[in-house]
Amino acid sequence: MYKSIKDIKNLKDKKVLLKLDLNLSLDKNGRIDQDSTLRIESVLKTIKFLLSKKTKIVIISYLGRPNGFDKKYKMDAVSKILSKYIGKKIKKLDSALPQDIEKDILKMKSGDIIMLENIRFYSEEEKNDKLFAKKLAKLFNIYVNDSFSNAHRAHMSCSAIMQYLPSYAGFRLEEEIKNLSLAMKKEAGKILILGGAKVDTKLMLIKKLNNSCDYILLGGVLANTFLALRQINIGKSIYDNKFLKLAKKIDSKKIILPIDAITAKKIYSTKIEIKDIKNISDDDMILDIGPKSVELFAKYIKKSKMILWNGPMGYFENKKFQKGTMDLVYCMKKYKSIVYTGGGETVTMIKKLKLEKVFKFISTGGGAMLEFLSGLELPAIKALNKNKMSAKGGSASGGKKSKLH
Ligand code: 3PG
Repeated sequence: MYKSIKDIKNLKDKKVLLKLDLNLSLDKNGRIDQDSTLRIESVLKTIKFLLSKKTKIVIISYLGRPNGFDKKYKMDAVSKILSKYIGKKIKKLDSALPQDIEKDILKMKSGDIIMLENIRFYSEEEKNDKLFAKKLAKLFNIYVNDSFSNAHRAHMSCSAIMQYLPSYAGFRLEEEIKNLSLAMKKEAGKILILGGAKVDTKLMLIKKLNNSCDYILLGGVLANTFLALRQINIGKSIYDNKFLKLAKKIDSKKIILPIDAITAKKIYSTKIEIKDIKNISDDDMILDIGPKSVELFAKYIKKSKMILWNGPMGYFENKKFQKGTMDLVYCMKKYKSIVYTGGGETVTMIKKLKLEKVFKFISTGGGAMLEFLSGLELPAIKALNKNKMSAKGGSASGGKKSKLH
């Protein structure tokens, strides 16, 4: 069992390496989408707690999936937004390499906050490099992970690092584990609503939750995959034929598919049509669920006792194909459904519509939430569970001037 941030004794003056997922959405101009800040809001409690204990906080995080250094993914804008939220200056460093950051860390006073450069600029991160982790760990006393949405990656900053530092779960990570564990409970009247892409992870989730859910309502690429499997013409719509075999194994009467669709000939086409699912032409693309499907899905939502929802029903990036998803959310609101949801795009959409209150719990995780609900032990949680080092004694030499290279 992992240790909680609440269990750390004598935090004063300790150098804390704080892992956060500040992977915010970027708009089409590469600027941070102001509605994607749930990930910031969700970690404020941990930061404020560490500040109240007069620690020295060094934030390690990432943005996007850069392949080496990429100006677009520098952490400067993220650090400015976070700084506004906490009302305190954050010193942003241009590196995350232990040998570059050591002098700044040694100069820190209690209550100071540093943010390192995007850790994904360094290949050691995704390689889960032990040597890098060991060198980095030497600069700190304690490691805190408050990064649930990244917990499904076995990366250096959320896996290997825990071999070298006493490690603790932050408040948000604990909250995610608690709430998603509740969502996994077998309960009558539970339904699963899945859309979007990531077909493989979602099929695993369906497999896992097949027994504990009464119905599984599908939209997006996932629905197209099942429609293709049931020999319904989906025209040029995107589906995943790699997973047809697996889909066939788990197909059942519980899986409810759209009965009509919003179609277009191209993704950005201005001309859209509403078509019965049995009348899709060879050159059509299914880009959202249609009004009859919304009506059908609404019946299941109305009689449900609990809903797990991940992913939009259509090609949500284009406003023309957002209606199906939005109608479902309004329906959940109308029937006061108990809904657990998550996923970067889904959450950004919920914030834009100011509909946060509709949900019982909004997870910061997308892939992490799906894997957790599928019953997998996420690498970061596994590493936390395994960590037996103590913050008092511990084997980390944090605080001492260390020779790194
Ligand atoms: C997410 O946005 O779901 C997490 O930050 C994980 O990002 P990744 O899929 O790029 O690892």
